[in-house]
Amino acid sequence: MSPKLLKKGEKFPLDENCHHYTKLGEVPWDIQKYWHQRFSIFEFYNYDIHLTDSAWFGVTPEPVATRIARDLSTHPIADGKRVLIDLFGGAGGNVIAFALSSGRWDRIIAIEKDRSTLACAQHNAEVYDVLDKITWVHGDCFEVMKRFWKTTRGTKGMEMKGRGREGGEAANKGQEQEDDNEELDGLLAGLKLEECLVFASPPWGGVSYRDQEVFDLSKMEPYNLEQLYKACTMPQEAKEEHPSTQKQKHILPQALFLPRQSDLNQIAALVPEGAPKIDVVQYCQKGASKALVAYLPGNIDAGKEDKKQYEEKRGQKKRKQDDDQEQTIPELLPEAPKEASEAHDAYDTSYAQDIEVDTSKVDNAEKRKRKRRRRSSHNN
Ligand SMILES: C[S@@+](CC[C@H](N)C(=O)[O-])C[C@H]1O[C@@H](n2cnc3c(N)ncnc32)[C@H](O)[C@@H]1O
Repeated sequence: MSPKLLKKGEKFPLDENCHHYTKLGEVPWDIQKYWHQRFSIFEFYNYDIHLTDSAWFGVTPEPVATRIARDLSTHPIADGKRVLIDLFGGAGGNVIAFALSSGRWDRIIAIEKDRSTLACAQHNAEVYDVLDKITWVHGDCFEVMKRFWKTTRGTKGMEMKGRGREGGEAANKGQEQEDDNEELDGLLAGLKLEECLVFASPPWGGVSYRDQEVFDLSKMEPYNLEQLYKACTMPQEAKEEHPSTQKQKHILPQALFLPRQSDLNQIAALVPEGAPKIDVVQYCQKGASKALVAYLPGNIDAGKEDKKQYEEKRGQKKRKQDDDQEQTIPELLPEAPKEASEAHDAYDTSYAQDIEVDTSKVDNAEKRKRKRRRRSSHNN
């Protein structure tokens, strides 16, 4: 199935796979544990939040998503970026938080291949009043990224002509899909490469990752680290076709949401020697890390000047972060995992403070408004 860009206002209806459980008795046994945490997953759970049964395992809890949204919006990898592409939209945990960081992004694109999960994400975004701040794409994100690189390198016209020559039967069969593709290609062609940033929270391959002391990212299923990184890199043939792009930015910056015990050496190995350092941040709740985010700069083989500028900004940001942490709750910093303390020179690890404590600082007028509304409705 070809990816489809949903039109403005188009919403997939909730279906039989989308649930809002209200009683423990309704909840399948394997997600009961998560249901007990429902308000720390979505603070507004009781406002009719819907999830598919499998989304419970992958959704990013709201305090973590809020903190990531805040960090990403000011991280040096996001400098000059206005378009955020969330490759794995899920039930909306992260993308809603991105949309709530009001005004930071000109466009947020959420891609999700499972129709029911996308219906939940749209419904949940409506609960948080951000439905129309998100551009929704139904389909495979790897296919979308392939199209992204094609349209970016200017071969879209050639592609369309090619398909027109396919002949009667195939052409008729593909007509509807072609219309979908045209709309998606139109969107992608309008994006400026240097303004785009990718966020990816891929499936981690079930719960088995928990048993591993160091998680081997080459074995992550169904997509490993290299596949994710490749999807965000201009394919070689595009660079050859368009030598002018050789010296231009051709790797999108990425924030990758990965298991907390991911092998940091594998992340570091993605970037060539001499490239800017990678930040890796552990996101914690109640003192325990939930996941890490690797902030990978784009354009990693850029000229020295770009690299110097990036490192300077990164240094400034780190100093500011250190100051903020000193002023807030330094005693809550969790202990670094063993593999992080043996850090490779190519990356830095920083440790986010306990997020539950920190949410009060999140500057989000919309959220505060909703909280007040909720409190008053409880009191009445
Ligand atoms: C870990 S969940 C994402 C959770 C999301 N960040 C949230 O907070 O709700 C991964 C999601 O990726 C979707 N997915 C898996 N493969 C995909 C693909 N190739 N393209 C797009 N979505 C995909 C799954 O259906 C699942 O909903």
